[in-house]
Amino acid sequence: MNSPSSFPRGHRLLGWLVLLAGLSGCTTEKIVFRDREPFNEPKDAASGFVGYYTAATKQTACANCHVGTGRDWKKTGHAKAHKTLADLPSGVAQTSCYDCHTVGPNGNRTTGNVGYKAVRDSAYHDVQCEACHGPGPRKT
Ligand code: HEC
Ligand code: HEC
Ligand code: HEC
Repeated sequence: MNSPSSFPRGHRLLGWLVLLAGLSGCTTEKIVFRDREPFNEPKDAASGFVGYYTAATKQTACANCHVGTGRDWKKTGHAKAHKTLADLPSGVAQTSCYDCHTVGPNGNRTTGNVGYKAVRDSAYHDVQCEACHGPGPRKT
């Protein structure tokens, strides 16, 4: 009996507004499904440093799981350490400067020609998790 067409005009308008609001995404709740491997392939395979999963967004492989730590880390100076050097006038930053401003041997438990020092890839820019914690996936 109570078909929509019998609603007073105002109620029908309200109904359309609610429908439109729903369609235009008033809600802030978002469910994001991720279907991917947590670790990317290490560019420096010998040392096993995985570095950035997505360098452009400063998404480290570690933060694929340690989400909160990754978010906090992005706000620190460690997350801009490479840009600090890149912003200097050309010729100022020497090769050795990068040993501390990237994922590499300095201060690491894995030393030698590793990380950015071995493979100059953007995956190893900045003082990421592995610069302190060592290479991610345990080597067998
Ligand atoms: C032994 C490790 C190490 C090496 C090697 C190194 N740096 Fe740094 N650098 C640091 C640290 C740690 C900081 C952060 C210091 C701070 O914020 O107090 C830093 C910060 C900087 C800053 C920012 C300073 C500021 O006040 O914002 C610049 C610029 C910089 N380094 C340039 C260089 C250049 C150029 C080289 C090579 C000639 C170099 N670094 C080599 C560890 C290093
Ligand atoms: C500058 C060095 C440094 C960097 C960079 C760093 N960590 Fe840590 N992290 C440490 C140290 C040192 C500890 C031990 C602190 C303690 O025991 O209180 C630690 C502790 C932790 C712990 C265990 C602590 C806890 O809360 O129980 C986790 C998990 C962790 N780090 C993950 C990460 C991840 C993920 C990143 C990158 C997004 C990262 N760390 C970057 C040095 C670092
Ligand atoms: C696949 C998800 C995943 C990834 C990727 C991951 N972790 Fe973890 N990590 C965990 C879990 C789960 C724990 C908690 C283990 C536990 O409770 O004993 C943990 C624990 C830790 C701890 C604390 C260990 C301790 O003894 O308290 C540290 C430090 C840590 N991770 C660092 C890292 C770093 C650095 C990376 C990147 C190289 C990384 N994790 C990548 C899931 C992950």
